[in-house]
Amino acid sequence: MDFDLTDEQKMLKKTVRDFAEKEIKPTRAEFDENEEYPIDILRRLGEMGIMGMAVPPEYGGSGADVISYAIAIEELSKIDPSVGVAVSVHNSLGCDPIVKFGTEEQKKKWLPGLASGKEIGCFCLTEPDAGSDAAAVKGTARLEGDEYIVNARKQFISNAAGADLSLVFVMTDREKGYKGISGFLVPTDAPGFSRGKKEKKMGIHASVTMEMNYEDCRIPKENLLGEEGDGFKIALWALDAGRIGVAAQAVGIAQGALNEAIAYSKERVQFGKPISSFQAIQWMIADMATEIDAARFLVYRAAYVKDKGGKFSKEAAMAKLKASDVAVNVSRDAVQIFGGYGYMREYPVERYYRDAKITEIYEGTSEIQRLVIARALLR
Ligand code: CAA
Repeated sequence: MDFDLTDEQKMLKKTVRDFAEKEIKPTRAEFDENEEYPIDILRRLGEMGIMGMAVPPEYGGSGADVISYAIAIEELSKIDPSVGVAVSVHNSLGCDPIVKFGTEEQKKKWLPGLASGKEIGCFCLTEPDAGSDAAAVKGTARLEGDEYIVNARKQFISNAAGADLSLVFVMTDREKGYKGISGFLVPTDAPGFSRGKKEKKMGIHASVTMEMNYEDCRIPKENLLGEEGDGFKIALWALDAGRIGVAAQAVGIAQGALNEAIAYSKERVQFGKPISSFQAIQWMIADMATEIDAARFLVYRAAYVKDKGGKFSKEAAMAKLKASDVAVNVSRDAVQIFGGYGYMREYPVERYYRDAKITEIYEGTSEIQRLVIARALLR
């Protein structure tokens, strides 16, 4: 077993870290405050090959391994978790399903634009009554001649603000339950598509989250991904991959918060000494770092299993369960180390704490991750 990153992975880590430090850090608080979607940053990440990491080079991507993908998401999230999730959703839920399930025509049509970051992808599964119970979607699509007519109201959609292409899951045959769900590639300039309410969230403010509405929205029948009825399995496969991205995002949040806490503890003087000299702070920092390493190894293990081509649902769920828990605990402790200053928006740690919470919720709550893990162990 080799715990070292390859030279390419080390170089990628440095490149993304430098970009995040120089280009994202100076404006992250402003983007958070203004709830502004970082589209220009995403375009530049596209030029660096970060928006098509799993897309094969023949379709314009960088064809990177999954560990490299996790490294990139961690480095971005360490500085700004909103950018991290935008990149993760675009790659794992926007590009990956087309790479895995798309026809040659669909790959040629959509992947080059997405991989270059000139176009942004999003994933539309959640509805008002279909959250954890993803199979309960009510949206529909029916075939009329050469077109499908899609009707759906999708909510809590990450990347909605910038999306050019949505992957939408709706019922094509309600009688069949989850076997009647199909996935469609719907461009956001299709007639009948509109964006709805912009959500006001606790954290990840710059990852603008909106409703997406499809009203008699007409798309060519070639935009069906896979076969009719394949949608639920496509969605769950994509979410397995997406969970590695969210887990990497959570590790990034925790590491970012720890870095801030270490730096502050060395500068902050109380009782005549830097607070880093007190054992209470030292033990907190030691526990935070140990937990982050444990979470990171689970992320790399899940990425490794996916890279090998094996089934990785359980490993991805374990990584997300652990990493999201670590992100919440470590960012809370970072606020504690900052004391009163930590509670102020002028300092970055309260933002990490707000941003961390969603990692326990989206792409499957911690309870759903436990369900996935338990089912894998008990079947
Ligand atoms: N991959 C492929 N197929 C899978 C699968 C997987 N990981 N897990 C299950 N399946 C298949 C099963 O084999 C079964 O098919 P067969 O009958 O042919 O064997 C079928 O799917 C149904 O499986 P279940 O009976 O297990 O389905 P369920 O309804 O009981 O449970 C669930 C499924 C795990 C609870 C699932 O609904 C789930 O993951 N829910 C959470 C939804 C979620 O993560 N939403 C996130 C929204 S997107 C988002 O958050 C993005 C963002 O903004 C950042």
